[in-house]
This record gives sequence, structure tokens and C-alpha cells, in this order.
Amino acid sequence: MKFFLDTAKIEEIREIARWGILSGVTTNPTLMARAGRGDYEAVAQEICYIVQGPVSAEAVSLDAGGMVAEAEEFATWSPHVVVKIPIIEEGLKAMSRLRKLEVDTERLCHGCPWFGKCDTPIDRARKLAKSWGIRINATLVFSATQALLAATAGASYVSPFVGRLDDAGNDGMQVVADIVEIFQNYGIEAEIITSSVRHVMHIVEAARLGADIATVPYAVMKKALTHPLTDVGVKSFLADWAKVAPSS
Ligand code: E4P
Repeated sequence: MKFFLDTAKIEEIREIARWGILSGVTTNPTLMARAGRGDYEAVAQEICYIVQGPVSAEAVSLDAGGMVAEAEEFATWSPHVVVKIPIIEEGLKAMSRLRKLEVDTERLCHGCPWFGKCDTPIDRARKLAKSWGIRINATLVFSATQALLAATAGASYVSPFVGRLDDAGNDGMQVVADIVEIFQNYGIEAEIITSSVRHVMHIVEAARLGADIATVPYAVMKKALTHPLTDVGVKSFLADWAKVAPSS
């Protein structure tokens, strides 16, 4: 299972990227507000530069035409940008239309402050954008049928929100289990991003069920790595080593 970080805070992304386990990042308007940033293009480009993997940026239009226009624009920021579109009726129409559109590779990475320093040089960026097209992450998925419809419309990723389902008294992980089974039944290639992760057991369950990705908030990611017995063990090994270590 791949790990994405669910944040728009650059310092959190830089720290976790240094662990060497980070495959992507998901953002949304709430996470942008929490990061105190409104310059979506600049933030998305900096995250793409750091992560060099899929970075979801959310469209905010409510009509299919507006969503398509936003998606076409976002896709020129970097080949790594994935456009988040909510799984509503207009969103589904937008996904179906975007499946047939290409990225404007002439404008790709124009104005990016990381141009020339990036690990994805422009020639490669253009090739990637041509082969991927405009990638969609269907967001605000709360049922298996929503996921199936999004994947049928051409979404590359579907994001079931397990924490919000649990909050509402439903079983979030059961929705992930249903989606995994259905996608396996039909060989659907869209990747399942377990989203709205609230605690470490959500990560464990996502991995047990075979979800492709868990997008994890910074605080939960830190908890996933730590265990008090590991800290106790490190401390006692160091104390014992100090008793026998050759003095230099
Ligand atoms: C995923 O892409 C979303 O950004 C995120 O997981 C939403 O989580 P929340 O329910 O904690 O807002």
C-alpha cells in the first residue's frame, strides 16, 4: 500500500518526504485554509517539486463546465497534479468529458518557480502528461456505487472518506472493503485512496483490505511510526552499550 500525506502544509510534507516512504499528497480547500494559503497553483507546484508523485488539488466549481475548465488549468501546473472532483451529478459529467481531453503540454509547467531545478524535466513532464491525460481523483465518496460510477466515468482514483462515515455512525472500512471487492471483480484499474483517516487502525484496516493507498494526516503518520516499547528499547540498548563500549 502506498502512503500519501493529507495536508497542504509544506513543512509537514518536507519532513515526511525525508522518510523516503511518501508517494503522493492530497489537499482540499479546508487543508489549504488550515495551511493559511490561498495561492493554490504555487502550493501545488511546490508540493509536486518535493514529492514527485500524484498531488491532488480540488476543483471548486459546482457545474460540469466549470469543473472541466478548472481541471484543464490545474493539469498545466505540473504533470503530477491530479484534479479532485466531487462525486455529484455534475462531477460525473465532468469526469466523463475530461477522460477524452488532453493536457495542454505547450503551457505545461509555465511559470513554475521550480522549473529547471525539478527532478521531472520538461521533456519528461510533457511525455508523462501526454500518456496520463488529465487525471481525476473522485472525492467525497461515501458509497461503493459512487466509487463504481466514478471509475466507470474514467476517474484514476476514488477516495472513500472512512472517518466521516464512522463519525456518522456508518462503517467506513466496510465501504472500502466493498469497493476493493467490486474493483477486483471487474479488473477496474482506478486506485482506491482510503481517505479521511483519523487513526492508525484505519491504516492497518486499509492495508488488510488491499486498498491501494492511504492518505494520512501528519499527526496520524507520526503515530503510525512510533511505539513506546521501541523508545524504551532504544534507551535501554544505549544504556547497556555504554557499560561495555570500548573507550576511545
Ligand atoms: C482526502 O483527500 C481528503 O482531503 C481528506 O482525507 C478529508 O478528511 P477529513 O474528513 O479529515 O476532512
